[in-house]
Amino acid sequence: MIVTEKISDVRNIIKEQKLSGKKIGLVPTMGYLHEGHLSLVRIAKKHSNFVSVSIFVNPIQFGPNEDFDRYPRDLERDLKLLEKEGCDLVFAPSVEEMYPSELLTTVNVDKITDKLCGAFRPGHFKGVTTVVAKLFNIFTPDIAVFGQKDAQQVAVIKKMVEDLNFPVEIIKAPIVREVDGLAMSSRNVYLNSEERKAALILSKSLKEAEKLLLNGERNANTIIKKVNEVLNSEPLCKVQYVSCVHPDTLEDLTYIKDKALIAIACFIGTTRLIDNLLWGEK
Ligand code: PAJ
Repeated sequence: MIVTEKISDVRNIIKEQKLSGKKIGLVPTMGYLHEGHLSLVRIAKKHSNFVSVSIFVNPIQFGPNEDFDRYPRDLERDLKLLEKEGCDLVFAPSVEEMYPSELLTTVNVDKITDKLCGAFRPGHFKGVTTVVAKLFNIFTPDIAVFGQKDAQQVAVIKKMVEDLNFPVEIIKAPIVREVDGLAMSSRNVYLNSEERKAALILSKSLKEAEKLLLNGERNANTIIKKVNEVLNSEPLCKVQYVSCVHPDTLEDLTYIKDKALIAIACFIGTTRLIDNLLWGEK
């Protein structure tokens, strides 16, 4: 496994690999890897034969009052995990390598970034699409894997790729959960033991939504109401939003025809957690 901090190294290595006929896979991450991230690496391995992972806590996607400084980092541990997965290349740049001078060019996807998480994290998705566009230009991957855990992020990146003709196939990976149902997240380490228990309310509320859907309920408001009720039954949980939208357009749904995304964001203590249920998609 090759590890580098330099964009020029990545370009040279990828050029060589492409010349030898390799299909390049990329998994962008912010590190502090867990099974969710590793599942993306495994999926990338199935769809390509040179798998790269980027590890970069991207400052421009964090708001001024968010957790950029305390975001968990452990590069040594991450590298060991990636080595075990048979990853080929790890790019772990410094902030200076990625942003050497004042950034005057950004990539922004309109409209679909104004809702769900975007409504509460102004500028967040512009930071994500800008860094992902940079990574796509650095790696020129054939495929890139993103997790359904961040459902809005996948929709936004797919739209960017479509609108700007990036020659990359975006693959969506299912949510990986702890055995008790909590969606894996690097931010779960912020939870104390009481909050960790309370955090189960997110996946529980989505299970209730799933039950309603399985019983034939198609009224979005009925489902939203139920999810809110379950979330509010947990005293440590403060709901930020519960939405029922189309998974691609992120348009609010009133009636669920075929596909739906039930997306939630909550604070458990001071930790903001997200989770979602994708209904009707294979
Ligand atoms: P990060 O939060 O590190 O996540 C990296 C990738 O792992 C994302 O595609 C995310 O959706 C996926 N992921 C996280 N938890 C997961 C889980 N429990 N199951 C499945 N996939 C999971 O998302 C980012 O980093 C950044 O915004 C990034 C795209 C790297 C741009 O900076």
